[in-house]
Amino acid sequence: MLVTTQPIAASHTPSHASSSLTSAVSSGRWTAAVPRRRQHSNTRRTVSKISCKRVSLVDAGTGEARVLTIEPPEKLKTTVVLKARVTDYDLSFFVETGEEKTTGQIEAKYVSNKDDFYTFEASIKVSGSFGTVGAVRLDNDHEREMFIKDVTVFPDGDESDAVSFHCESWVIDNEKNFNDDRRVFFPLKSYLPSQTPEGLKTLRQRELETIRGSGYGERLAIDRIYDYDVYNDLGDPKTTNLLRPVLGGSKELPYPRRCRTGRNKTKNVNGEFTEVRVSDNYVPRDEAFSEDKQQAFTTKFILAGLHALEVLKVLKDREASFPSMAAIDALFEDGFKNMPAPEEGGTVAGYIFSVIKDSVFDILKGDFAGMKHMLDKILDFETPEVHQSTLQIGIHFLTGFRALESEFPIVSQLDEETYGPRESLLTKQLIEEQINGVMTAEEVREIKEFCFFFHLKTYKIYCIVLTYWGNKTNQFFQNFSQAIKNKKLFMLDYHDALLPYVNLVRELSESRDNNVNTTLYGSRTLFFLTKDGTLKPIAIELTRPKNKKTGKLQWREVFTPGGSVTDSWLWQLAKTHVLAHDTGYHQLINHWLRTHCCVEPYIIAANRQLSQMHPIYRLLHPHFRYTMEINAQARVNLINAGGIIENNFSPNKYCLELSSVVYRDFWRFDMEDLPNDLIRRGMAVRGKDGKLELTIEDYPYANDGLLIWESIKEWASDYVNHYYPTAKDIVDDEELQGWWTEVRTKGHADKQDEPWWPTIDNHENLVQVLATIMWITSGHHAAVNFGQYPFAGYFPNRPTIARKNIPLEMGRQGMKELVENPEKVLLDTLPSQQQALLVLVTLNLLSSHSPDEEYLGTHVEPAWTAERGIRSAFDKFQVRMRDILDQIDEWNEDPRRRNRHGPGVVPYTLLRPCDGNPFDEKSEMEMGIPNSISI
Ligand SMILES: [Fe+2]
Repeated sequence: MLVTTQPIAASHTPSHASSSLTSAVSSGRWTAAVPRRRQHSNTRRTVSKISCKRVSLVDAGTGEARVLTIEPPEKLKTTVVLKARVTDYDLSFFVETGEEKTTGQIEAKYVSNKDDFYTFEASIKVSGSFGTVGAVRLDNDHEREMFIKDVTVFPDGDESDAVSFHCESWVIDNEKNFNDDRRVFFPLKSYLPSQTPEGLKTLRQRELETIRGSGYGERLAIDRIYDYDVYNDLGDPKTTNLLRPVLGGSKELPYPRRCRTGRNKTKNVNGEFTEVRVSDNYVPRDEAFSEDKQQAFTTKFILAGLHALEVLKVLKDREASFPSMAAIDALFEDGFKNMPAPEEGGTVAGYIFSVIKDSVFDILKGDFAGMKHMLDKILDFETPEVHQSTLQIGIHFLTGFRALESEFPIVSQLDEETYGPRESLLTKQLIEEQINGVMTAEEVREIKEFCFFFHLKTYKIYCIVLTYWGNKTNQFFQNFSQAIKNKKLFMLDYHDALLPYVNLVRELSESRDNNVNTTLYGSRTLFFLTKDGTLKPIAIELTRPKNKKTGKLQWREVFTPGGSVTDSWLWQLAKTHVLAHDTGYHQLINHWLRTHCCVEPYIIAANRQLSQMHPIYRLLHPHFRYTMEINAQARVNLINAGGIIENNFSPNKYCLELSSVVYRDFWRFDMEDLPNDLIRRGMAVRGKDGKLELTIEDYPYANDGLLIWESIKEWASDYVNHYYPTAKDIVDDEELQGWWTEVRTKGHADKQDEPWWPTIDNHENLVQVLATIMWITSGHHAAVNFGQYPFAGYFPNRPTIARKNIPLEMGRQGMKELVENPEKVLLDTLPSQQQALLVLVTLNLLSSHSPDEEYLGTHVEPAWTAERGIRSAFDKFQVRMRDILDQIDEWNEDPRRRNRHGPGVVPYTLLRPCDGNPFDEKSEMEMGIPNSISI
């Protein structure tokens, strides 16, 4: 008997067919889901009706198909109705065989309904010559799309021989199926291309051709076509202030590719073809958030609500600063509940909060009830984990991108003629003075003695050992491995990355047309690693380049903690600027560019080149969940011209352009795995024994991350070894090679000629490539994403923007303002009330886990369980992750680890594996590492 499980609204399934012959009897069971209520653009209709569907079984040996048509007794109008009536149904099957139309009618009985999935089953006679079931093919004759969860076929009615099809896919109605897109699903058993059963080879190839599409025409919301395009839809070609350059496709502004929508393009005034902006970007149908992903809807609507606020400019005074630091602290104490509206004489903060809430509720309309819990959570600002200004950059976030020159003086790589003198003011003498202030006499003596024996010039690292004392003859460091032990000085370098944009950003504020209030500097910040293992900031250099238009010369100044009250205020203001630089770099580069943006091409290429029955597709699939959807939403509401990011971060309209420049100058795939990322930044070195040695012993991100990285790599290695006995099998896998070639030549086309792209020609390289992608989508993203509100929610600690030039640059008038009211100068430098509130809501949203999140080490793909060797490897992976969890808990209790344990110190849990109960009274940082970039 043949059994199927089917969704509500849809679907049905399976089956099997019969020919006129006899013997075999198959059972099918199919499951389908409640149709989602998502309101799509004009091209996708909501799902509410159910109608018939045909299911074909495909003989794995011959490719011969048997077609079933399932005909429900009546059409249903809504999901709710279906739920209510479905128990009364006996679905009918019409069996087709070849040219023969209806040969009989078979009833499919409703079996059960669980979690909105309805199960039906039926028994059908088939020909005795019918072989192994190798695929199911589905047609949907109804007027609405159907979600097919899974299909199970029991040949000869024997459950022990069940063939399972894990569909999890939307099947569109035939009426809309302009591309003759008859859906085919393959069983759980994975095959390399060369191992494909003969009868399935054509289907396997045809499926990939369908998914690739023709490259022409506008994509409909019901499509499942994956293709590439450049970022040409961020700006608005009709509005001067919202014109933005196309990112991708040029040497000057290269960028990873995003999903092609095929929308009409218009030529902007700069001669570039750009897409018209819409409110809902296309993503292939199965990339969309699931119906029951409540947060998905919440995410979308809150982002839309925030964006609406930006566009509407609801506040009379968008630039109003907070009245006092005490008022900022008060925000977190009463959750904004008691803030009066400005008309009542209070600050605008409470007003903004009420507007945000009203706006979101208004957009949600009748859908609010189902999302109330999530909304309340996101709009209720709890006190962030870190509620103090620390400037502990580099410990809990990935920061600092460019390696410094190993020797002093520190020199910029930028053109002196354009930007001014290249040599930094952070001199040896200045650093020595600061270091002596934070070191014991014994430490200073030790370092001086150490420096006498070794030469610093051999260093190719980001952090610099303090060896300059007495280093007048360049006779010191000669042995890197010995010198590394004493590395004490670190630099956060945003000089060369930001300096080219300083004058451009300042011009925005100077022009009344732009209604922008921001500023920028190039910055370098030095930290000293104290004896207790924590980083202490000791000097900040801010630089304004010379300006050929105005004739202004370069201005730069070094700030230190100092001893006077004036110095302390200037130091605080300089820190505010650097924190804004770091927060922006974190968001634009380490978060958006390196995870969301760079991963999308891997997903597109995988779907276009790897069959759904390919083992590598099934390894990576959980790491690609929802990324294209959240990226599509980001293009509409977050990173678009005039969007939340631009309006609230220092570089303003140059935010995304800046990320393109960093992609051009620094991003390379072979540096995206954790060990190489650490080595590149000088945070680790590889010893002679091949082991990695951390520069800072207590560096939680690296400590925990390396455990996760090694575990991922071992899982990937076991997986690859199972499917590829020899290197030749890897080289000969045309789908695998096609995928990796396309990642390079199409997805990252602007960098396709770079020599550092790895070649997948042996096990080691393949494992490294796969583990890198799995790490970026899981560990790296979790580390940079879910700590945003806990660590940055208290925005004086990590402001997104610094709005006011530092008083020293402004001359006598600037210093006069500082002397008269230093707190006001600081408050006018920090984000405005509106900016702070909008960012607060955004970070709270982005730091939230989805209720249906899948976690690294706990989520099991059905295909993995179908292969004993893979199941066994995954079991080992689970055990390792559990051990890592215990290790992290132990470290967080270790009093020697001052960066993660101590009074007022937040335990580091961003890379803590899921313990199986992510919602069991845990903070967002403790829930686990999601497999994919879904928020
Ligand atoms: Fe994210």
